[in-house]
Amino acid sequence: MRPSVSYALVAAAIGSAAAMPLNPRQQGGGSTTIECAAIPSPFPTWQQLPQQSTLPDPFLPLKYTTPDNARDVVAGKGQGRVQTPEEWYRCRQPEILQMLQEYQFGYYPDHAQEKVAATRSGNTLSISVTAGGKTGSFKATITLPSGASASKPAPVVINIGGMQNQPYLSAGIAIAQFDYTSVAPDSNGKTGAFWSIYNGRDIGVLTAWAWGFHRTLDAINMTVPEIDAARVGVTGCSRLGKAALAAGLFDTRITLTMPMSSGVQGMGPYRYYTMSGQGENLENSKQGAGWWTNSKLGTFVNHAENLPFDAHTIAATIAPRALVIDQGTGDQFVNSKGTAVVIYPAAKVVYDWLGAGDKIAISVRGGGHCDMSGFTSILPYVQKIFFGTPTTKDYNSLGSYGSPLTTAFPWATAVPKA
Ligand SMILES: *[C@@H]1O[C@H](CO)[C@@H](O)[C@H](O)[C@H]1NC(C)=O
Repeated sequence: MRPSVSYALVAAAIGSAAAMPLNPRQQGGGSTTIECAAIPSPFPTWQQLPQQSTLPDPFLPLKYTTPDNARDVVAGKGQGRVQTPEEWYRCRQPEILQMLQEYQFGYYPDHAQEKVAATRSGNTLSISVTAGGKTGSFKATITLPSGASASKPAPVVINIGGMQNQPYLSAGIAIAQFDYTSVAPDSNGKTGAFWSIYNGRDIGVLTAWAWGFHRTLDAINMTVPEIDAARVGVTGCSRLGKAALAAGLFDTRITLTMPMSSGVQGMGPYRYYTMSGQGENLENSKQGAGWWTNSKLGTFVNHAENLPFDAHTIAATIAPRALVIDQGTGDQFVNSKGTAVVIYPAAKVVYDWLGAGDKIAISVRGGGHCDMSGFTSILPYVQKIFFGTPTTKDYNSLGSYGSPLTTAFPWATAVPKA
């Protein structure tokens, strides 16, 4: 057992979520000068945004997403679209990160203000975070594959709610798990480590769980030399898949984001919600579990088509880091078909445009909601990302769902010429 370590992590140095919304959007760098469109302040209300029945154009800054030119906005012909990958990373990606926090997730706490302490006892990590004079603590467990050592550290998949461990361990991948309910309960209750520090803030529980992933990674990095903290996957299923997606979104240390059967506020579309499953949408998710997201999202209830983003925007913002999406064709709950034929291909347009097309993948499998076979189904892709192991499996196939619904993302025919 190694001694306990305690230090203040510098957000910028670890590329953590906290630093991301604060990404400098200044011009300069290289030989080109880039002026970013100003992020509207305050952010527009739903009435000030155009109604869009198709997926919003990811290339169009919020400033130009206005109702008076709605027809052009929808068609991908809006003025002021980002033109180059450099502009995407410098201007649009930070804008989307801020926009998603404003409209859906709530603002991720400033990690630079946090002090993380961790101790390890066998395979149990005790994690303690202090900020603003308040402390929250929770535990995580790790399971190491045979052969993992400080000189040959294994990549890790951090999960909540459980996963199929054995095939991953056999493949040389470590498993970490934390008790998400001790970070934040799946309710309006403000107990748990996250709320011990941040009670009173308008933050969704998906963001609180994402924070739990990140602080678990901090602790692994501090106390588990047998794990390579530079090769990290995050996963969970259903509501926990929504949280895994948020974890991948808000921390650039996450190498591979693995949302399983994640649905709305995960990889399920707000628009096109009737394609399969029980019709999960903004209205019923906000009514059933409003605490997953912030209160601002509630102002869009019955106006989901005015949201200036959809699930493809979230996926695209993770680029160029890897994302693999699991969906089951027998899932009665989430809209697997919508994820497959609408969200995945729309996000892939952006990944391709950024030159990272092989970093987004989908696995459409048989079986239902949270079927554990999903984990074996994505494993070859996980091995490709972690070890560079080639696979012949086609992770661009939509399986029995066939081909993309291209009318859902009309802007894709007018992709900016990079
Ligand atoms: C691990 O900790 C070291 C030392 O603070 C830091 O430089 C590094 O960026 C951290 N890595 C991750 C993945 O957090």
